Amino acid sequence: MSDIEVIKKEVILQFKNNTFQLIPAPTARWPGGLIVFEKNDGYLFSEKLFSCHIASEYWSENNRISTESDRKHFYNCLMAPMSSQITSLTEKVSEFDIKCIAPLHGPAIEYSLKSFLNDYIRWGENLCINRPKVALIYASAYGNTASIGDALAKGITSTSVEVESINCEFSSNDDLIQTIKKADGYLLGSPTLGGHAPTPIVSALGSILSEGDREKPIGIFGSFGWSGEAIDMLESKLKDGGFDFSFEPIRVKFSPNKPKIKEIEEIGTHFGRNILKKSRQKNRRSDTGMISSKTNPTLQALGRIVGSLCVLTASKGKGENNIKSAMLASWVSQASFSPPGLSISVAKDRAVESLLQIGDMFALNILSSNNLKEPMKRFAKPFAPGEDRFAGLETEETPNGQIIIPDSLAWLDASVKERMECGDHWVIYAEVNYGNVLNKDDLTAVHHRKSGSNY
Ligand SMILES: Cc1cc2nc3c(=O)[nH]c(=O)nc-3n(C[C@H](O)[C@H](O)[C@H](O)COP(=O)(O)O)c2cc1C
Repeated sequence: MSDIEVIKKEVILQFKNNTFQLIPAPTARWPGGLIVFEKNDGYLFSEKLFSCHIASEYWSENNRISTESDRKHFYNCLMAPMSSQITSLTEKVSEFDIKCIAPLHGPAIEYSLKSFLNDYIRWGENLCINRPKVALIYASAYGNTASIGDALAKGITSTSVEVESINCEFSSNDDLIQTIKKADGYLLGSPTLGGHAPTPIVSALGSILSEGDREKPIGIFGSFGWSGEAIDMLESKLKDGGFDFSFEPIRVKFSPNKPKIKEIEEIGTHFGRNILKKSRQKNRRSDTGMISSKTNPTLQALGRIVGSLCVLTASKGKGENNIKSAMLASWVSQASFSPPGLSISVAKDRAVESLLQIGDMFALNILSSNNLKEPMKRFAKPFAPGEDRFAGLETEETPNGQIIIPDSLAWLDASVKERMECGDHWVIYAEVNYGNVLNKDDLTAVHHRKSGSNY
């Protein structure tokens, strides 16, 4: 006889002197989720919910602030695409008399529990205010297609477009159709199993063909082992059905490596920007009373703040997992004497942003007013997802392996210490490890602007 009991609905179990409340917590990404509340001592075993990717020698965090940015990062990467399910689960557990939350990843939470749970609800609510929404519909037997979906969702949410994730193996057809009708764009992902897409994907494809708007952006993705027929089938059926793809179908053999995940995140960001552009065009047509920012005196005054023109470069990981990126930056300032520190403001949807987490290193290449042409030509243009920002460039390295570009006036090598969420940007505070002036005679290039509404 088996000792395994399958929990399909909420139950209370008595085990020795402890009472356990078992709460099925299915989400799109983890359909088998189960939360356990131990009633005697008030322990909540919350699985992925409330987790963060920190390994620490301590059982629990020292205080709320010490892990907040990691928990928010975990939320943004994995919870945001199913925020309505996560908010309902959080609201449910908020009613329990919890003394300690023990999530699957990261330290337990023992202090300021109420404010933490309120934050979790607020993070979800902030996502839902009149933002355009993408329906991300997928199935995944072993998690590979799901991880492509996670990377797309991460890139999309960085643009402030919301993602609603539907694991179509565990959702009703009605929910699927409602989500398709409300969405401003669609993503459909499938593995190939036995030469086919799983049946729920074939049925979701039918719903998109019957209910989907051909004017809205669409993309497809999937993991395969050797032949990948499912993506070919989705591609041909949607093309024949009159849909135009916003990006080339993403086909990944088994699981994506880190550079591939980064490239997929960037595809997501482009997809999100495309949706935002369309939604702005729609709103502009219906809102003729918009004030032009060019004439707004507040923005003109803000634009009089100047910054040094720099190229930020970042390189992370070794060998085939190495990822490199760069961006032109002028919202840069020295921020501390001792230790020497600087601040830099990075737009949330910037490709390099994911390489600037706490502990990451980067180089700041300060440009010369006499030698701007080449770096501006290369780094001021938009890059395609995954495009090599340094192709054909002879670069050097800082002692920490960060990239020094030719023509820099000076460079600094720094490590990210703090990140502060500020509107549509992250302000990064970094401590300087090394630096050098390469051209002592030239002056720093300064960026003069007419308006604070753009760089
Ligand atoms: C039973 C089985 C059948 C499979 N059939 C195919 C196939 O016909 N063609 C193919 O390209 N890959 C096939 N694969 C490989 C899967 O597509 C591959 O493992 C993929 O990464 C699964 O993605 P998922 O984790 O999103 O389910 C098969 C795998 C299994 C376990």
